[in-house]
Amino acid sequence: MGFNKIDIFGSNVSIKFQGLDAHQTRVGACFTVLVFTLVFLRLIILVNNSVNGYNPTVLYQERFVQDPKMFEITPNSLSLALGLLDMNFNYYIDETIFNIQGVHIIKQNVWNNSTNQYEQILSQKVFNLVNCTDEHIPDPQLRDFFLQSNLYMHQCIPLDLSLQIQGQFNSEVYQELNFYFKKCSGLKCKNDSDINKLLSSNNVELVFTDIFFSPQNKENPFTKFSRDLYWVTSQNLPRFVNVFMRNNYVETDVGWITQNLMTNIYPSYSYDDVQVLFRLAFIFLLIQNNI
Ligand SMILES: *[C@@H]1O[C@H](CO)[C@@H](O)[C@H](O)[C@H]1NC(C)=O
Ligand SMILES: *[C@@H]1O[C@H](CO)[C@@H](O)[C@H](O)[C@H]1NC(C)=O
Ligand SMILES: *[C@@H]1O[C@H](CO)[C@@H](O)[C@H](O)[C@H]1NC(C)=O
Ligand SMILES: *[C@@H]1O[C@H](CO)[C@@H](O)[C@H](O)[C@H]1NC(C)=O
Repeated sequence: MGFNKIDIFGSNVSIKFQGLDAHQTRVGACFTVLVFTLVFLRLIILVNNSVNGYNPTVLYQERFVQDPKMFEITPNSLSLALGLLDMNFNYYIDETIFNIQGVHIIKQNVWNNSTNQYEQILSQKVFNLVNCTDEHIPDPQLRDFFLQSNLYMHQCIPLDLSLQIQGQFNSEVYQELNFYFKKCSGLKCKNDSDINKLLSSNNVELVFTDIFFSPQNKENPFTKFSRDLYWVTSQNLPRFVNVFMRNNYVETDVGWITQNLMTNIYPSYSYDDVQVLFRLAFIFLLIQNNI
């Protein structure tokens, strides 16, 4: 029959030696056991690696997106603490000398179909920062680094506040976070000459939790660490600092035969730039998404 010819499992019809297909020896048997053991062990290691994702194949691609996705800043996603150091690198918090004001800005671009133009709708939420507590950095391992930087002498975003960063400046929705370090003004403030003396030269510090990509961990491919940035400023030469975050997308194919993509998104610090500022504050810190 012609059809039977495609059978690859059919056994050979051969001449037999002492009733056996092959001439088998003890050495050959040992060697067979060895080969099978090696193949079997290798297979187990391969399966184990695939299940646990120990040796992933990583494709890295830098892709620019027009509308960076929204990222919500909470103590669990991104802890940040702001500090001020005097000329001798001593931290200080003193409302009678300076205060830090937070402003969350949301800008929307809305199409107006009677003027045939986009209209900007700006809204902003002003908030005061609070003294940092342990709850602001829930992860004890990450908190350790903050404690080394004198956490309790820093100011943090109030715990009940939900803030986001999103988009580029001309995206449909753009959100950014601003911090103004302002000299105290009013009756309850310290002597003006004392304030000026202190604010003549300062270091502004931003301690925050950042991430790096660690493909070995299949479930959560981002590892957190704490990062510390400094800028020198003074009220005679105010600064404007832009801190850019970048969104990282990790698509993991967890399927065995068919594709089954699992996506993790997390922003990380990208870069910052410093410009000289008008006299609105002695430092103005802006946190936003970049592409
Ligand atoms: C669109 O523009 C017109 C003319 O400026 C204005 O009167 C109107 O309120 C705008 N519509 C919206 C929805 O903003
Ligand atoms: C203009 O805007 C109104 C209200 O948003 C909407 O009902 C209408 O369909 C729009 N017209 C056009 C031509 O898009
Ligand atoms: C914040 O911390 C500073 C420095 O420890 C302290 O003087 C101040 O009273 C604290 N403010 C509040 C509201 O607890
Ligand atoms: C303010 O500081 C100056 C200089 O240190 C001092 O001469 C003056 O007496 C101070 N005024 C007050 C009200 O403390």
